Amino acid sequence: MVKAVVVLNSSAGVSGTLYFTQEGDGPTAVTGSVSGLKPGLHGFHVHALGDTTNGCMSTGPHFNPANKEHGAPTDENRHAGDLGNIVVGEEGTVSVNISDVQIPLSGPNSIIGRAVVVHADPDDLGKGGHELSKSTGNAGGRIACGKCTISSAL
Ligand code: CU
Ligand code: ZN
Repeated sequence: MVKAVVVLNSSAGVSGTLYFTQEGDGPTAVTGSVSGLKPGLHGFHVHALGDTTNGCMSTGPHFNPANKEHGAPTDENRHAGDLGNIVVGEEGTVSVNISDVQIPLSGPNSIIGRAVVVHADPDDLGKGGHELSKSTGNAGGRIACGKCTISSAL
């Protein structure tokens, strides 16, 4: 079992902690909560880099080791980092509970050291017809992010 954690940082008043666990070669479970968001959908991705020297802007594009197009988590043609949207309730808080097979915590496509980013707007999952739909889902600004770090390898 490998466990990892992301502590989100934000200049927009968003906060949260996300916990990742993976058993063997199985799917990675993502749990935790994020608060301080406006109600509605917010794009939620793993970006390629863990570099936050220039805030969330320096975390690079969506993690995409297979060189595919942006899509929904359920699509065959998707970036590995495409985790879709988190859905925030009226009180501005969301409880995250995701399981995904393309974000392992070990091996060549490990997301350890990369960043998780929460966006200002909904991710259109590649289907919005916008010029950015096939690259970013047109999810708007990067309002919170944090680096994925190992919390336990036991
Ligand atoms: Cu993103
Ligand atoms: Zn993407």
